[in-house]
Amino acid sequence: MTAELTGSTALVTGATAGIGRVIALRLAALGASVVVHGRDQQRGAEIVDEVAVAGGSARFVSADLSDAEDVLRLAAAAGEVDVLINNAGIYRFTSTPETTAELFDTHMAINTRAPLLLVGALAPGMAARGRGAIVSLSTVAATTPARGAAAYGASKAALELLTRVWADEFGAQGVRVNAVSPGPVHTPGTKEMGDEALQTIARTTVLGRAAEPEEIAEAVLFLASSRASYITGSVLEVGGGHLAIG
Ligand SMILES: NC(=O)c1ccc[n+]([C@@H]2O[C@H](COP(=O)([O-])OP(=O)(O)OC[C@H]3O[C@@H](n4cnc5c(N)ncnc54)[C@H](OP(=O)(O)O)[C@@H]3O)[C@@H](O)[C@H]2O)c1
Repeated sequence: MTAELTGSTALVTGATAGIGRVIALRLAALGASVVVHGRDQQRGAEIVDEVAVAGGSARFVSADLSDAEDVLRLAAAAGEVDVLINNAGIYRFTSTPETTAELFDTHMAINTRAPLLLVGALAPGMAARGRGAIVSLSTVAATTPARGAAAYGASKAALELLTRVWADEFGAQGVRVNAVSPGPVHTPGTKEMGDEALQTIARTTVLGRAAEPEEIAEAVLFLASSRASYITGSVLEVGGGHLAIG
């Protein structure tokens, strides 16, 4: 039996850790040739090895997404891409008075500008070939105020708007563009925040717990697949539900 994504190439940014790592492994298991992106060479090599051991195909490309030229170099190194997953992102929580221009700009550069440059570089090729799927990782903090998440939430709210713009811009040529908006997830990134900080957010969800990366990857894979053939310009929340007020 031919796997669903055999013959296609997928680029997953931030695939050296957390949610992106699981997405990359799952796309490879579905037959895609995966471009594993990140900065950490060792973790990148380990994921490429893990894919190979499982019989899949992957290669690692390192790039710092805060640097626009490096983003364009990544796009060129990736070549023809059928599935683009804009997963890499940073979240540094600070009050607005503590948010420096540099911190704000870094959020915008990595979380918003890098996806914009990648879509600009790669979506025209998808459109010319008449097929493609783009899924970006947003956050519930893009729509619900989250304490200390001014810069982070704003950078992802912009990404959600861009998702709808791109859906319109490339949809007629067969390219679907969607986003997934996770709530709290157990990842190396949130581990750095401390368990209590993650649990505080988890307690605001109906399900009362943080997600595992696999639960987010599942939604991303659905939107990237032909099972979502009539879905574009959507933001799918995978956030454990909103507790009622009152
Ligand atoms: N975890 C959550 O609770 C949660 C909730 C909502 C949304 N999200 C979103 O989901 C995505 C993944 O989150 P995560 O928690 O899995 O992240 P994570 O564990 O912190 O991992 C971040 C990944 O992004 C890469 N990355 C970070 N800065 C980079 C830069 N300047 N250039 C290149 N790569 C960079 C890292 O690469 P290296 O390690 O190789 O440097 C790593 O692979 C993010 O967009 C995040 O905003 C996460």
